Amino acid sequence: MTIGLKVNGSRRAVPAEADAPLLYVLRNDLGLNGAKFGCGLAQCGACTVLLDGRAVRSCVTEIGSIGDSEITTIEGLGSLDKPHPLQQAFIDEQAAQCGYCINGMIMTAKELLDKNPHPSATEVREALAQNLCRCGTHGRILRAVLRAAQGNGKT
Ligand code: FES
Ligand code: FES
Repeated sequence: MTIGLKVNGSRRAVPAEADAPLLYVLRNDLGLNGAKFGCGLAQCGACTVLLDGRAVRSCVTEIGSIGDSEITTIEGLGSLDKPHPLQQAFIDEQAAQCGYCINGMIMTAKELLDKNPHPSATEVREALAQNLCRCGTHGRILRAVLRAAQGNGKT
């Protein structure tokens, strides 16, 4: 069957079953590889995307459940030429080591900063607590999110 999705501002039609995980459709059918497959069990956060602004784990989100909700992937935030302020802050703080977790960190931080533009360090830690980084770059990730938050309201 064909299922329609709204992704990064465009309408897309994909040949897939309703129970197909969104992560597989994004990566395999739509060529959006920013979201990563980590655990496949909603445990690590590497696959995080936004659904109507809410961070969700795309590895366990069936595309048949999405309906008309707007999907935003990290490709929809910014580009190499024009990175989103969160992406720029992660670059400035050199927050990635292997980089595998960074999609989930940025997308989860995006949800946080949209709701709370000036979070405390504790609030950032709490928001990212369920996103795993096996490289242990949590300190830099925290600094990157706080750096992005500092810029909020200045543009
Ligand atoms: S791959 Fe989805 S939470 Fe780990
Ligand atoms: S930078 Fe490697 S898992 Fe986080």
